[in-house]
Amino acid sequence: MPDLCITLGRLNLKNPILVASGTFGYAREMAGAVDFAKLGGIIPKTVTQSPRKGNAPPRTVETPSGMLNAIGLDNDGIDHFIAHHLPYLRTLPTAIIANIAGKTVDEFIDMAAKVGREAPPAPLPPGGVRGGLAGLELNLSCPNVSGGLDFATDPKLIDKIVAGVRKVCPLPIIAKLTPNVTDIVPIAQAAADAGADAVSLVNTFVGMAIDWRKRKPILGNVTGGLSGPAIKPLALRLVWRVASHVRVPVIGIGGIRSIDDVMEFLVAGASAVQVGTANFFDPTVSARLVDQLTATCNDLGIASMRDIVGTLRV
Ligand SMILES: Cc1cc2nc3c(=O)[nH]c(=O)nc-3n(C[C@H](O)[C@H](O)[C@H](O)COP(=O)(O)O)c2cc1C
Repeated sequence: MPDLCITLGRLNLKNPILVASGTFGYAREMAGAVDFAKLGGIIPKTVTQSPRKGNAPPRTVETPSGMLNAIGLDNDGIDHFIAHHLPYLRTLPTAIIANIAGKTVDEFIDMAAKVGREAPPAPLPPGGVRGGLAGLELNLSCPNVSGGLDFATDPKLIDKIVAGVRKVCPLPIIAKLTPNVTDIVPIAQAAADAGADAVSLVNTFVGMAIDWRKRKPILGNVTGGLSGPAIKPLALRLVWRVASHVRVPVIGIGGIRSIDDVMEFLVAGASAVQVGTANFFDPTVSARLVDQLTATCNDLGIASMRDIVGTLRV
């Protein structure tokens, strides 16, 4: 059997297939459909300091090979997450990576401290893989709330948030970046310099859909974030650029739905991947990809993920 374990800074996972925030609910919704034990990790929907209603409907629209969403971080707030969702998530046989978004630097730090207080006290044995609450992803990149994108477009703000969060939260930190920038490399570098254990990219690309007959935008928020197979080539390039220029583990996200997609991201330099939009049209895809990864490694004689990650020849 190939060894699918991966290491993202201080975070060890049993395999590189995770499910992306906002596309898997708080996992309860998927119970019965998905074998959680197969997954490398689950990233529940972003939570914010206070409950948010989200944007006016319509909030999603299908586009060629993808979808636009403008959910607007609809959630019940961090206290509800800790009291209601986290106890359930902790019981699942895979790593849980909480995901938070603040409106300000201080909000990020306050929320990270709260999540940090929930971290298991025992230190991880070397090479050990932890279930339960295992990490914290910072959503620095939501395109659908005012101020949401500002964080991941400014290296100075990234530095303040990531460094501040590291001081108050003992969990491994993943900085989730936006593709909506001229150059993602300095942004990823700022996250790495400030102590992020890994960067995840990408969040959605800002786009819009129009009903020209009505002369109206289709989404209630006017614009939304594009995701799904349509963005895979764009995401792949950004992952490759960051992996080749910044010494930080990269988690690739964008349109992943098949084992070929997974292998392309790994070869481009991603140490792990997250499956997002594909969960909506095939909720069982992520668990199946783990089996297919094992089979592919066996076919190719790949013993460990080190033999495949970043092996692109240019
Ligand atoms: C309906 C929807 C809701 C999302 N909500 C969140 C969210 O709450 N937090 C977050 O970090 N990313 C969110 N995302 C972004 C995804 O996690 C992922 O980064 C993006 O969709 C690209 O991956 P994909 O093409 O595989 O979907 C959302 C995406 C979709 C489609």
